[in-house]
Amino acid sequence: MTKKEEQFSFTSENLKKAKKFIEMYPKDKEGSAVMPLLYLVQEQCGWVPESAMRYVADMLNIPHIRVYEVANFYTMYNLKPVGKYLIQVCRTTPCWLCSSEEVLNTFKKKLGINIGETTKDNLFTLKEVECLGACVNAPVVQINNNFYENLTSKKVEDIITELSSK
Ligand code: FES
Repeated sequence: MTKKEEQFSFTSENLKKAKKFIEMYPKDKEGSAVMPLLYLVQEQCGWVPESAMRYVADMLNIPHIRVYEVANFYTMYNLKPVGKYLIQVCRTTPCWLCSSEEVLNTFKKKLGINIGETTKDNLFTLKEVECLGACVNAPVVQINNNFYENLTSKKVEDIITELSSK
């Protein structure tokens, strides 16, 4: 399963990982494994489809609504498909004071998209997030699993050029 909403199931490898996560919790508290399981879904699909939320809920033997609540509360879960590069711009105060607005506007202008949108070539998705925990090097942006710090408009342009050519 990739971008389309279909019936979700873990790959055999991820099923083993999921079972290991579940085993980490006491017998009647398996529901506590909801976050790592949702993250595993996201690693497999790139986002968390609704069918996967139901699948995870059934696997943990908890009501579907409990999984929907968790998936909707945390910004780390993508509830719709994202591009190859997920750009998460920190907008919390320390980054904002260090010109995160300018960084965000450069991404918007160069990519021709707004927050929550994906470029037509499916390469970039732009997202606004709260503190990424690297305030000392503000302004900060996370792209997939990499952090980009002390950003300027020029650095943003260079990052886009580099990622576009990969
Ligand atoms: S405020 Fe941006 S990383 Fe903390």
